[in-house]
Amino acid sequence: PGFSRRELLLGSAGLATAFAAGGLGARQAQAADHALTLASLDHQILPDAVTRSMMSFAPDGPPPVLRFKQGRKAAIDVHNALDEVSTVHWHGFRIPNGMDGVPYLTQYPIEAGKTFRYEFTPPDAGTFWYHPHCNTLEQMARGLTGVMIVEEKEDPGFDQDLPLNIRDFRLDGDGQFIEFFKARNAARGGTYGTVATVNWKVAPTYDLPAGGLVRLRLAVTDLTRVGTYELAGGDAKVIALDSNPLPAPVPARDLILAPGQRADIALRVPDSEDKVVRLLLKRPNGDKELCSFQPVGQSAGRDLKELKPLPPNPVPEPDLANAEVLEFVFGWSPEGDAPQASICGTLGYTFWSINRTAWPGDLPGPFDPLATMKQGKSYILRLRNESPNDHPIHLHGLSFKLLRSNKRQLPPLVTDTALLLEEETMDVALVADNPGDWAFHCHVIEHQKTGLAGFLRVD
Ligand code: C2O
Ligand code: CU
Ligand code: CU
Repeated sequence: PGFSRRELLLGSAGLATAFAAGGLGARQAQAADHALTLASLDHQILPDAVTRSMMSFAPDGPPPVLRFKQGRKAAIDVHNALDEVSTVHWHGFRIPNGMDGVPYLTQYPIEAGKTFRYEFTPPDAGTFWYHPHCNTLEQMARGLTGVMIVEEKEDPGFDQDLPLNIRDFRLDGDGQFIEFFKARNAARGGTYGTVATVNWKVAPTYDLPAGGLVRLRLAVTDLTRVGTYELAGGDAKVIALDSNPLPAPVPARDLILAPGQRADIALRVPDSEDKVVRLLLKRPNGDKELCSFQPVGQSAGRDLKELKPLPPNPVPEPDLANAEVLEFVFGWSPEGDAPQASICGTLGYTFWSINRTAWPGDLPGPFDPLATMKQGKSYILRLRNESPNDHPIHLHGLSFKLLRSNKRQLPPLVTDTALLLEEETMDVALVADNPGDWAFHCHVIEHQKTGLAGFLRVD
């Protein structure tokens, strides 16, 4: 919708009604391409226990994988069957601001029992994910994280495509949720889950065509963990990161993925059934097998060289010579600020800040943007982490290119979520081509919810 946030908040009744209706009405006649129902459910995660009070985007199982076609318009009806408000955010989609799913910044929360229609045309192909942006820690912890795929216009030639929703849950030995976070962890690296899952299963095995070419789509939708991943036992190359194709594929080893990040891996499945491939999470105290891949059948005899490179996404190239530099400092905030009541959930603490300002929570503002960019102009964002913790910094609605770091060599990747290491300063560049108010936050959800959040305005 073409409402500015200010109009929205000042609330002309007519506008507010139209906005809350979310495109229902005239357009409701058209069937949606996808329908999601935010619902609570009981589901078996551990081998012998049913976890109660999970949340999903479907009433009867894990979040569905949503498929879209690049450049084709799609409508998604989101029905909220929870007994609390929510929104859905389409992580990595460069779409109109009103469809971005951030409460009060881009829309009113979807009330319990109500349906909101999201409509957009994904411009980029690749692996993405979706999640709520309201009471985010609890809703995501209970299960609300799903994988989205945008198919390339031209079929890249795989025998199979396998999305892997990688995340942990915080469960006790009986499979029930324990406290979603501990304050002392929120002030540091965040609170880790206790049970590692792939597609809501503990160490699942997938049958894959022997000798075939399979596209593994890793989406780390975990709330906290920055992990190192490796595909052991097959011939595998990383072909895209955060939905953007790599100019040259790299081996699927020592792959660091932070919350919110994705990797597309081209796997040449081994020829024989006794050569199982494993996805490992590397850990100092012993690697953990997240899932495995079992070759089945006669070898298809394919070769990784048969794959054509994926076409780059149409992300505009920043004009570095004329780019303005905007500085952002990610750091501490005085501990223990009085929490404000918030409809979309507060953790009750403030530990973090961007440019010394702690985001007060998802409240009906108005708040000031951290920076305002002119539409169409190029910017360099200088991201300075003055803390001893890692922060995956995510920007909504715009993709950016990695330029340089004071700590390491950076490949010129295009992304929406950059892992900022402890005490690292990183320059990234973008063209501010998408107007609106775009959330800008750490994707360690405890950091986001205790101050490390804000938004950038493009107008
Ligand atoms: Cu996955 Cu605000 O984003
Ligand atoms: Cu996002
Ligand atoms: Cu962080």
